[in-house]
Amino acid sequence: MRSPSLGLLLVLTAIWVAGLSHAAKNEDKASLRTAFADHFLVGVALNTAQIDGRSPKEAEIAAMQFSSLTPENDLKWQSLQPWPGRYDFKRADAYADFAEKHRMKLIGHTLVWHSQTPAWVFQGEDGKPATRELLLKRMRDHIQMVVGRYKGRIHGWDVVNEALADGGPETLRDSPWKRIIGDDFIDQAFRFAKEADPKAELYYNDYGLEDPRKRARCIAMLRGLIERGVPIDGVGTQSHFQLSQPPLAEVEETIKQISALGLKVMVTELDVDVLPSRGAAGIADINRREQADPALNPYADGLPEEIQGKLASRYAELFQVYLKYPKSVTRVTLWGLHDGQSWLNHFPIRGRSNYPLLIDRSLKPKPAFFAVLKDASSEKR
Ligand code: XIL
Repeated sequence: MRSPSLGLLLVLTAIWVAGLSHAAKNEDKASLRTAFADHFLVGVALNTAQIDGRSPKEAEIAAMQFSSLTPENDLKWQSLQPWPGRYDFKRADAYADFAEKHRMKLIGHTLVWHSQTPAWVFQGEDGKPATRELLLKRMRDHIQMVVGRYKGRIHGWDVVNEALADGGPETLRDSPWKRIIGDDFIDQAFRFAKEADPKAELYYNDYGLEDPRKRARCIAMLRGLIERGVPIDGVGTQSHFQLSQPPLAEVEETIKQISALGLKVMVTELDVDVLPSRGAAGIADINRREQADPALNPYADGLPEEIQGKLASRYAELFQVYLKYPKSVTRVTLWGLHDGQSWLNHFPIRGRSNYPLLIDRSLKPKPAFFAVLKDASSEKR
């Protein structure tokens, strides 16, 4: 574990401040995107206000620090096709423009998922569930329209998100996609995406892949995809982590096992929850809720230095693992630009103060930011 000295932190802070004024010219040397340029893309999830001009300072920091961009919500089905056949591409187009302007690789998140997908998608005539044929047609139409529109502009797609079950015995989650189409909905989604943009990278994305049992189910599923010739390029491990869970050894094992299949590995939604939990902290299912309790919101007035240090060490150690696999790990994306934006202020309990990212609520880099930068510079190649 490396803890950066105070002197080093001061120097790095000065570089950050100086860098901000040069951001427009992208000359900054203390940026994550520059520091990791020889290793992997470093990405960030952004929301609409950060790319449409309402939060210019946040946009500036994002463009300076990150080489990849994932829309946090605006490429999900409910945003793009809220009503049958009525598409809305206004916000999505703005991301594509922003990414091009700042030379960031744009990631499409996500095509086929059980959440943030309108109910009509799964409904047929007379309130009955859609038939397999109807749902497959809707899936294909949506994918052709969306992937086709951004052909050549979106670097890679999370084609299927969170299809795996959290517990056994079934491999796949009981979702409307699986119930109506059958287990082959995953194959179909990848084939439709390939058809729509043969050059885009296609990913399977999920959380909890560091849990040995879920990982085993994931690897079995991936083997099946590969055997059947399904066009998959990589796997996104979301990486919604806690301070001490999952263990680093499991993080590493997941990278090893996925890359042994010849697939790329992406860390797609990294954040480190610092708040206590009474539930199953590793389950990032957005429908999971925990009972609110002031004891579960201990840092409403600020993050104690001790925890700040633990967070920095955790990030340092995680990036040290990622840096060990430069051939397999092609991108590491943070799920949000700064702590104030993080979904973890509202999940699994609404209205808490969480501190899971590298930049704080006032847009200042945290010790974790410098710890990660230091990893990049101490890496001997
Ligand atoms: C989250 C967003 O961050 C929130 O703003 C939204 O309210 C719910 O979805 N796994 C995923 C992401 O794949 O799409 C989720 O994003 C977080 C969990």
